[in-house]
Amino acid sequence: MTVERPPQDPAALLHRRQRILAPLDLELGRGLEIGPLYQPVALKAECDVRYVDVHRTPGLREYYAAHPGTPVDDIVEVDFPLVVGDRTRSLAEATATAGPFDWVVASHVIEHVPDLIGWLADIADVLVDGGRLSLAIPDRRYSFDARRPPTTVGQMLLAHQHGDTRPSVRAVFDHHHEAVTVDAQAAWDGRPGRETTMFPLETAHHMAVRTMTEDTYMDCHVWLFTPRSLVRQLQVLARLGLADFTVASVDPTAVDTLEFFAVLHRMPRDLDPADRARLVDEGFVLPTDHVRPEPEPDPRFVTSQITRREQALLDTKRRVSNRLKGLLGRG
Ligand SMILES: C[S@@+](CC[C@H](N)C(=O)[O-])C[C@H]1O[C@@H](n2cnc3c(N)ncnc32)[C@H](O)[C@@H]1O
Repeated sequence: MTVERPPQDPAALLHRRQRILAPLDLELGRGLEIGPLYQPVALKAECDVRYVDVHRTPGLREYYAAHPGTPVDDIVEVDFPLVVGDRTRSLAEATATAGPFDWVVASHVIEHVPDLIGWLADIADVLVDGGRLSLAIPDRRYSFDARRPPTTVGQMLLAHQHGDTRPSVRAVFDHHHEAVTVDAQAAWDGRPGRETTMFPLETAHHMAVRTMTEDTYMDCHVWLFTPRSLVRQLQVLARLGLADFTVASVDPTAVDTLEFFAVLHRMPRDLDPADRARLVDEGFVLPTDHVRPEPEPDPRFVTSQITRREQALLDTKRRVSNRLKGLLGRG
């Protein structure tokens, strides 16, 4: 599995942790971090936090041992694994002895979850009214997803309808087929450079076939976001009654980096329909996505060059049309 790496420099890491935690009132109440792996954002020494992940720590260590560069010994002790035996528990069931929570943190997790609508509902279940969900999210434009097409609300509806508990074949294939090495700084400069494909087509095909034929969880980026697309899509889900969150703030992708931050508010449970509709209309401010200059088109794929003969025909057509306009007295 390919994992987008947040900055590793200790000062940058501290700054990043502060960006994610600042909107939360850590001292008041209890929190939950989803998927901390070896780099928790909320530290047990600093606040009352529990860790939840798909598997128990030994299972995560075993899985990530095959991923070079992952410091498996640093993977934290998971308090609540979702998978126990061959059963996957809901967040509410797994954390029943400790919830509800006043805040939830998830760094580089939302893009991995198979059923995004179900995941948000799970989090809404364990959060108190007005509780906050603080997210760190890779920006698809500056990460290894740069070549993939954006994902849609329709795909979220499909995953929810199917009750996906594993990434879909669509996600697994696209992830492996389109992943490219991208230098975020160069991409911001409009010089994406040589985007090298990370996996051969055979690997993408193999992964897709395994997804279709085995009961194996193929971790990958299922959902792709920019700051603007995240807010737009969450608002659509809220309008459809499929997400009980508003977006309190977005800290857009900083120049030369590949991730952005968002804080969501859990709507009160007993809102009447009119108040909910008002909140959904007003509780989302669409951020502007910074635009990187478009790179020059690759001349190998420019197919719209016209021949001299076609140009001559166009010129004749233009001359005749002008003459007709003159005869009819139109400018
Ligand atoms: C890409 S890693 C991110 C690790 C770390 N938070 C960071 O920012 O570097 C994703 C983590 O989320 C966990 N994860 C993925 N889907 C999850 C889910 N539905 N519930 C809980 N954890 C999940 C994975 O097992 C993994 O530990």
